Amino acid sequence: MRAVRARTPLDLTEARPGPAFTVTFDGREIEALPGQSVGAALWSAGVTSWRSTRGEGRPRGIFCGIGVCFDCLVTVDGHPNQRACLRPAEPGQVIRTQEGTGHDER
Ligand code: FES
Repeated sequence: MRAVRARTPLDLTEARPGPAFTVTFDGREIEALPGQSVGAALWSAGVTSWRSTRGEGRPRGIFCGIGVCFDCLVTVDGHPNQRACLRPAEPGQVIRTQEGTGHDER
């Protein structure tokens, strides 16, 4: 019987990403890889929700993953309403949970 080898997305694409870098999410340092979106970096760090609905306070994070639903809004370097699924992660970014419309934050 032939052993089944576990395959990862990196194996399948034969991708060789550059070295990881650090961003912060609500003050916590997390690692990101070149080419990752902010949302992918958050998911890789185990963060699956970073916003809540205005009405009922339900958790939100990545839903469509392609920039259509706006469920993944986050504040990046002081700029609210960034779609985490589209915004590329960059070294040193300060990513924060977005409260409400994001325009009331200081
Ligand atoms: S997950 Fe839908 S816009 Fe980002």
